[in-house]
Amino acid sequence: MTPTPLDRLIEDVGADLTADLTMGANGARGPRVAELVSRYARAHDDWRTFALFDSQRYARNLVHKDELFELILLCWDLGQVTPIHDHQGQRCWMGVLDGRVEEILYAPPEGGTAPRVRGSKEHERGAVAFITDDIALHRIAQVGTARAVSLHLYSRPIPVCRIFDPATGVVADRTLTYHSIRGVRVEPDTAAR
Ligand code: SIN
Repeated sequence: MTPTPLDRLIEDVGADLTADLTMGANGARGPRVAELVSRYARAHDDWRTFALFDSQRYARNLVHKDELFELILLCWDLGQVTPIHDHQGQRCWMGVLDGRVEEILYAPPEGGTAPRVRGSKEHERGAVAFITDDIALHRIAQVGTARAVSLHLYSRPIPVCRIFDPATGVVADRTLTYHSIRGVRVEPDTAAR
């Protein structure tokens, strides 16, 4: 079967992250991943096969997962938003495929204070944002009048993250679940193991 553009992206990212690993220190060639995701986001729409929405909350649709990375399509209905969260020491790239999302960055709370906003940015189709815990915590929100879809690449996969109460800074663990796996709805949501 001819590989789809998304299959090729997965293959190229896997090769890039593997090469990155062999260069030591768990890699520092992130910009190549950003370029691959951005090029894909601007040129292709075969991701639509996996784009399932949920009216109750943003939907996490798993497209690919191996030891090195997971690729998840996030589908955002109007007004849907993540909690403020970390990335458990992993790297996160977010490429926008459709619509618009806002990324709000926060400094980690110190001693029971509310997380402090560091800045925010809106991202449109083709834009790729990159974050690690050393950079900031963040929260993502759909903005504008159209639903949004974004592609999130975590290296390595993140089964659980920490979420932060915006008012108090109180921290809780959140198990990350999937709404669907390779286009098949999972019921109830399946934990990201
Ligand atoms: C998520 O994966 O559920 C949150 C989005 C992100 O951290 O990029």
